[in-house]
Amino acid sequence: MKKIIIAIDGYSSTGKSTIAKRLANALGYVFIDTGAMYRAVTLFALEHNFISDQVLDSDSLVNALSEITLRFVPNSELGKSEMFLNGENVEKQIRTMDVSKYVSKVAAIAGVRKKLVALQQEMGLEKGIVMDGRDIGTVVFPNAELKLFMTASPEIRANRRYKELLDRGEDVTFEEVLSNVRERDYIDSHREISPLKKAEDAIEFDNGDMGLDEQFERIHAYTLRII
Ligand code: C5P
Repeated sequence: MKKIIIAIDGYSSTGKSTIAKRLANALGYVFIDTGAMYRAVTLFALEHNFISDQVLDSDSLVNALSEITLRFVPNSELGKSEMFLNGENVEKQIRTMDVSKYVSKVAAIAGVRKKLVALQQEMGLEKGIVMDGRDIGTVVFPNAELKLFMTASPEIRANRRYKELLDRGEDVTFEEVLSNVRERDYIDSHREISPLKKAEDAIEFDNGDMGLDEQFERIHAYTLRII
């Protein structure tokens, strides 16, 4: 079987990571959640006060990027990798609403994208990866052998994210989550650099009323046709 690159892009909370993880496990591929990388940089910005009173100091953040080391460390008990920022496991902190509020603003900064895209391209050098994000099929790996673009209505997506946050014990309302999902979609699709859009050769996949098993079966079938 040949090793390929599978790019899964799409709107916030479309379940990209869940399906990407499952697909990577089934194929013996490496799964890379690029959103976790943008989230870790955002956490760094918050911790270093590059974001205060809702204002983001992009220049200071870009100047400090060389101090940031990001690593995905496999956790065999959980059966997934966790994000480490400068040697510290930040998997929980990067999923909070605080980080979600600012991540799209951080991800719109050219210097941040340049650094993270280069890291992502390095991770895919040997192929055999499933990478999810917003610009994987358009910018990071325009030659990926399989590209998927996931969509679902904002309400359905916000409801999924709301349940996840409640399960983690966060104190949020559905309206807050819905407005965050809408805001991130807007910023992600309208930014100047690498805006979120479907690659011409991506397969569009509306999973609004599709269970996980059905999604997996379909996407796995597309993959088997190629490898
Ligand atoms: O995938 P997730 O929702 O965790 O991503 C968080 C944010 O990171 C997105 O809303 C987007 O602003 C940014 N992102 C991006 N490019 C990627 C992955 C994520 O701009 N490849």
